[in-house]
Amino acid sequence: MSPSSRQPGEDVSAASRGKSIRFMGVSKGFANSNGARTSAIRNVDLSIAEQQFVAIIGPSGCGKSTLLRLVDGLVAPDGGDILIDGQPPRPGPATGMVFQNFRLIPWRSVAGNVGFALEGLGLDKSALSARVAAQLEQVGLAGWAHHYPAQLSGGMRQRVALARALVGRPGLLLMDEPFASLDAQTRELMQDDLLALWERQRPTVLFVTHSVDEALLLADRVIVMGGGRVLEDITISLPRPRRSTDARRTADYGPLREHLWSLIKQLVLSDPASAFFGRQG
Ligand SMILES: Nc1ncnc2c1ncn2[C@@H]1O[C@H](COP(=O)(O)OP(=O)(O)OP(=O)(O)O)[C@@H](O)[C@H]1O
Ligand SMILES: [Mg+2]
Repeated sequence: MSPSSRQPGEDVSAASRGKSIRFMGVSKGFANSNGARTSAIRNVDLSIAEQQFVAIIGPSGCGKSTLLRLVDGLVAPDGGDILIDGQPPRPGPATGMVFQNFRLIPWRSVAGNVGFALEGLGLDKSALSARVAAQLEQVGLAGWAHHYPAQLSGGMRQRVALARALVGRPGLLLMDEPFASLDAQTRELMQDDLLALWERQRPTVLFVTHSVDEALLLADRVIVMGGGRVLEDITISLPRPRRSTDARRTADYGPLREHLWSLIKQLVLSDPASAFFGRQG
């Protein structure tokens, strides 16, 4: 995300409303090392309503990360159109991105990493510091502003990455296996924190995960991908607010989980190169 890509007149102080996303016949391929092209995304049509929480699940290599990068505007489609609130994607603070491996800047403090997302937006120094401090407090890192990434645990680093994604008050939050490298307890805490945060700010969220349970806990809708296509699109109407401790007790949870697992097993068995089972959490 480039801090300098802000458009004139964009209000960085207001929280953005959750944005709608439309994919219309979108395709994307890449050249492999032999020079041949592989299709990462094949003719995808998809409509995501504003403020929806969507989980994307599917075997390794099925195009999940590519889908997110297309929405962020980091990658352009070969064919078809993508519209975010009716406009082509454009990188900037209105879209927050969180990755599995944190991607923090090691020589910047916690505050410096979070503030990076706001630099170049014309905020004065004290306004920027106040925004960063408020965001750090929201993710439970008040008091850690002057520490460096190497001094933090994995869970704390991921909180910094989350704060950096959220400090621009994005209407769109793109999360690519954000909790996959955390231990089980930290992961549950982060899931609950993310749910609380989404309930407060209601950005539209695209959340890639290899965990069926994580998808069911968090999302309004689970999109199952395989071979660059959307294979199933399942509405999750488990009651909200949800928390990790109680979501699994609802009557619908077991059948939904079983359905998703059998679908993913079929996909993995039809493509033995897929690493889904080795990676899911
Ligand atoms: N920059 C790139 N250059 C060449 N090929 C790419 C590039 N990015 C993705 N691909 C290819 O596109 C396909 C989809 O990749 P993508 O990273 O979207 O999959 P994924 O579903 O996110 O997989 P994983 O679960 O392992 O993260 C794969 O075949 C991958 O090798
Ligand atoms: Mg990926």
